[in-house]
Amino acid sequence: MDAETMTRESLQAFADRRREGFEWELRNLVEMPTISADPGCRDHIWRCAEYARDMFFRYGFEGEILETGGHPIVYGTLGRDPHLPTVTVYNHLDVQPATEPGWHTDPFRMIIDGDVFRGRGTTDDKGPAITAFYGAIAAKEANLPVNIRFLWEMEEEVGSPSFRNAMERHRGKLATDLVVVSDTIWVTRGKPATPAGLRGLLTFVLTLETAEHDMHSGLVGGAARNPLSELMKVVAEMMDGESGKVKIPGFYDDVVKPEPEELEHWLNAGFDVEVFKRDHGIKSLRTEDPLKLMKRIWGRPTMDVHGVVGGYSGVGIKTAVPPRAEVKMSCRLVPGMDAHSTFERIRAFVVKHFPDVVVREDHSLAPFRGHVSGPYAEAVKDAYRFAFGHPCVFTREGGSIGAVTTMENVLGAPVYFLGLSLPSHGYHAPNENYDWEQASGGIALFARFFEHAARLGRAPEAAPATENPATV
Ligand code: BES
Ligand code: MN
Ligand code: MN
Repeated sequence: MDAETMTRESLQAFADRRREGFEWELRNLVEMPTISADPGCRDHIWRCAEYARDMFFRYGFEGEILETGGHPIVYGTLGRDPHLPTVTVYNHLDVQPATEPGWHTDPFRMIIDGDVFRGRGTTDDKGPAITAFYGAIAAKEANLPVNIRFLWEMEEEVGSPSFRNAMERHRGKLATDLVVVSDTIWVTRGKPATPAGLRGLLTFVLTLETAEHDMHSGLVGGAARNPLSELMKVVAEMMDGESGKVKIPGFYDDVVKPEPEELEHWLNAGFDVEVFKRDHGIKSLRTEDPLKLMKRIWGRPTMDVHGVVGGYSGVGIKTAVPPRAEVKMSCRLVPGMDAHSTFERIRAFVVKHFPDVVVREDHSLAPFRGHVSGPYAEAVKDAYRFAFGHPCVFTREGGSIGAVTTMENVLGAPVYFLGLSLPSHGYHAPNENYDWEQASGGIALFARFFEHAARLGRAPEAAPATENPATV
């Protein structure tokens, strides 16, 4: 295959011819349980990093492991011509735990079921990583005049704690004209979507301790404070659990609302409330109005309770008054909002009204505002049209990827998204899966995008690295 013959048909033939190799690499990655949150998985993570590095060499690329102080980063290299443009593709090889009920098969065995690949990490984000890699192999065979880099993080699912340091430490080596992230989802199959923004995240914990140990409620009940009921009241003062409205003063002050044109894009994104419910197994919603729903998941901040610790949760009822309780919470943040000032507002509110409740910040990720115009955005649109028959729509993601803002701000290169996952693939859910339609189309998507990057050439030397205002 050469650059002139990189047609949709030739790329499909390339993908079909190489499918066995694709599946083999994906299987080997999926079968290493790279759960970044689990300290017991450290060795699996290093083994996976070494596997990925060696894989680059097996395909005629180069690979190395960058130490970060936390879990490593794998860095793959194709081409080193300083006159050619450099595209860096970001993915993550760490995964969420897979202990949730509902798995029909072993999450760390990859099951191939026709065109479907099942297992933890198949869609988030090992499948898209190998897809982009095969797109680069196609680019290599076509001798495209472009340098390609792969940046595979291994602690995305814990909020990328070492990523900024690693980017700063290796800044020189990581210099790039642009970054492409493949870790996002479409609205629905057949309708490519790319985010014009990501939400940020602030996680925090409330704790209250009012006694030394469990007490008999017949002896102390009525007089003893109950930290579990009190924290329920605290949460109810912070937010309306039914509507989701946050009652912390000033919480919404800095929110930048989406422009009417952006809402037009959303309305053309193929969003369907029934499909949304089915994809996520949702029984009832806070709103059934499609636009209001999209605003809620993409354009508005949230506050959620994720877990309550304390009291008795075994069989039956035990009539004890607990001594201590904890509530694990988070807020998704939208562009305009700042994690630090949001946390300060929350802390000030709780401390004022409930002075002995302790509020501890866990971690935070900045929101991100993406780029929807210019030659690279056009290249993204065209690559989707070429690969999947439709140009992408610009929506937003309600989720967060910590590395994105860091890459723009430290590397000074704009970030674009070539996501391939579908809601039905089940991010973080039991029976997570990925499929050959997205993978083979994705190979063509990346090959075509690399072709555009080659054509667009190096970014003008004079362009200064600017901080993305939504992220500082
Ligand atoms: N790939 C997701 C981010 C994402 C989620 C993109 C939803 C599009 C839609 C990423 O792997 C992820 O799960 N991020 C976590 C980060 C957190 C655990 C620090 C998230 O958003 O909760
Ligand atoms: Mn991901
Ligand atoms: Mn994830």
